[in-house]
Amino acid sequence: MRIILLGAPGAGKGTQAQFIKDKYNIPQISTGDMLRAAVKAGTPLGLQAKAVMDAGKLVSDDIIIGLVKERVAESDCANGYLLDGFPRTIPQADAMKENNIDVDFVVEIDVADSEIIQRLSGRRVHPGSGRTYHIKYNPPKVEGKDDETGEDLVQRPDDSEATVKDRLAVYHEQTQPLVEYYSSWANQGGEGAPKYVTVDGVGSLDDIKNAILEGLS
Ligand code: AP5
Repeated sequence: MRIILLGAPGAGKGTQAQFIKDKYNIPQISTGDMLRAAVKAGTPLGLQAKAVMDAGKLVSDDIIIGLVKERVAESDCANGYLLDGFPRTIPQADAMKENNIDVDFVVEIDVADSEIIQRLSGRRVHPGSGRTYHIKYNPPKVEGKDDETGEDLVQRPDDSEATVKDRLAVYHEQTQPLVEYYSSWANQGGEGAPKYVTVDGVGSLDDIKNAILEGLS
């Protein structure tokens, strides 16, 4: 199973990725989590990426493509992978084709911008694992603590309302064209064409999970 999760910031990609990776026993490859780990570790990549991420802009295609190429070559990707947050631009999608990074399904999670702003202001994250909560819609068992480790949850620096608006603008300009890119490729069919699944991302986590799993079955 080689899957791309496509959707605006806050559409629920990270939340649903937890269910999908467990169901198919494949690794979740979140470029956002990889970049945040580099920022935390203070690596040269992290130092370069931090200002771009905090401003809600996209890290350069070359850097991201290099990261993903290395990651999918690792042994745990032999049975598939779940790409969360990649590709995010047409050049990234083209680079996948050029590097034979194949995809079986593209799952688009569709959520309106107004809902996204509300969601991201209530998001809390466990930095160690990337597990995601919402103070109202998906609260942890103990306030402010991760369910599995009991460690503190944090708010991401790019989840302020002003930065979320910038991220949405970047999404519409640079990432949304991938909806047409993949859906028309799926419609044309042919060798290597993925199946395209669109899911309404507003509703209960379970309903959305079931709609995704049905689309993948
Ligand atoms: P990244 O970490 O990928 O952020 P994003 O795409 O903006 O996505 P998010 O993680 O914000 O949202 P999500 O869809 O995963 O939603 P979630 O499940 O958390 O990227 C961060 C930055 O890194 C980028 O801005 C860029 O700078 C850089 N970057 C990363 N990849 C890159 C690339 N390929 N190229 C260039 N730069 C790149 O859900 C959100 C909230 O809503 C949570 O609180 C959740 O609990 C809640 N929620 C989820 N589902 C529901 C529901 N059904 N109802 C109510 N609440 C819900």
